[in-house]
Amino acid sequence: MVRDTTSGSVTVPRRFVDGADTRYQAYSYSYPHKTAYRDFPQPVPLKELWKAEKRDALFLYLHIPFCEMRCGFCNLFTTTNPEASLEKQYLDAVERQCHEVAEALGNASFARMALGGGTPTYLNATDLDRLFDIVDRVFKTNPEQAPCSVETSPYTAETEKLSVLKERGVERLSIGIQSFIESEVRAIGRSQDSNVVRRALERLKRFNFPTLNVDLMYGLPGQTFDTWMQTLSETLSYEPEQVYLYPLYIRPLTGMGRQSSGGETAGVETADIRLALYRQARTVLTDNGYQQSSMRMFERRERDSVSKPVYCCQDDGMIGIGCGARSYTSAHHYSMRYAVGQKPIRDILHDYVNASSDSFSFADYGFVLNDDERKRRFVIQSLLQLDGLSFDEYYSRFNEALFSDFSNELNELQNLKLVETVDGRMYLTENGLEWSDRIGFELYSADVKEKMDSYENR
Ligand SMILES: C[S@@+](CC[C@H](N)C(=O)[O-])C[C@H]1O[C@@H](n2cnc3c(N)ncnc32)[C@H](O)[C@@H]1O
Ligand code: SF4
Repeated sequence: MVRDTTSGSVTVPRRFVDGADTRYQAYSYSYPHKTAYRDFPQPVPLKELWKAEKRDALFLYLHIPFCEMRCGFCNLFTTTNPEASLEKQYLDAVERQCHEVAEALGNASFARMALGGGTPTYLNATDLDRLFDIVDRVFKTNPEQAPCSVETSPYTAETEKLSVLKERGVERLSIGIQSFIESEVRAIGRSQDSNVVRRALERLKRFNFPTLNVDLMYGLPGQTFDTWMQTLSETLSYEPEQVYLYPLYIRPLTGMGRQSSGGETAGVETADIRLALYRQARTVLTDNGYQQSSMRMFERRERDSVSKPVYCCQDDGMIGIGCGARSYTSAHHYSMRYAVGQKPIRDILHDYVNASSDSFSFADYGFVLNDDERKRRFVIQSLLQLDGLSFDEYYSRFNEALFSDFSNELNELQNLKLVETVDGRMYLTENGLEWSDRIGFELYSADVKEKMDSYENR
């Protein structure tokens, strides 16, 4: 296990620095994580789940579980190189699911949409077109009305597909690059020719989508300050509007996880320099006009914020379509079953493409959030972002003072100077940002931690 010796002069509690406990504990992009999902006692009709929910600014997420390769670090729900018939069957199932969900929702409108994966641009141009047609026909929405983000990869960001996305009015393209150094991407089980990466970025620039995001990873085996600098400089030469920086996590059940057998940080055998690499990148990006929005996200300052309908992840529900997608009402988070291994993923995919229309009108797997979990979700999602956690918003939402619910946790963070309060809002300090992945995890409930742990040990 990695010992964190990089906390500098700031005092942090023993459990934040001791032995196996590092700051790199869990990426809390959505709480609770899918590994905490379980079968519901009985299937619940979607109509019932959504009837009392606010439905005027929903997020529509379409999941495409296909990739041209399975990267050694990746635990996303995806499979490689499916036979062409599976893609068609998949879109047929997506269409059936959309109809059932639209029927259950009744009157609803969408503020944002996203195509994620996997790699949505694994689909050919005709299938991508079909996907937008389905959404338009069934949900009466499109990227012109609901700003749309699409994930892509260097090998699949091809001209014909990008043309479809451009014509449809997609706002944001996000491409996973990870590193320009070929030996580094090879070491994380991703065979990627850097010239292919360069050509993909040049194409993306020519299409001139309003927002180009580039995903990079740090802490890769063999990565040094010099090679990281090379990757950052080359990335900046394309002037992306956004850059996401991900610390490498080696998770159980992934290719790298199986090799290193144990724990999120196992396998990072040499000194763990993730924090130093993060600090280096933060300096480079902020010196180049990027503003930090969270531990991972950096955005160019001059970029106008998209002023179309605003989706608020704290208030507005998510409709997930596809077999790796989650949906959220205020109390129910649900999805198809989750898996990382290829065999169970294929089985779930098989069930999905063969599912009857009727089966799409129920939720039977997920997590039911009680009041305590809703509060935790709100605190985690707010505190880890630039906008911070508002005391008033907390009170008006839960009719309780923030500090009476989370006094131990927040006092501790405050004493450690990991957070600061300005005008009734609590923000992460610069030091706190570096501890984001630990702070989020510390706020998980015992129930969620226990479920995640028993999932990973299954
Ligand atoms: C859906 S993928 C990106 C899209 C596309 N499939 C690709 O790989 O190019 C989302 C991003 O999360 C990051 N990521 C995924 N798993 C990670 C891990 N175990 N550790 C660090 N970053 C990870 C990677 O930067 C990746 O590009
Ligand atoms: S990182 Fe991207 S390309 Fe690689 S397996 Fe995951 S989703 Fe697919």
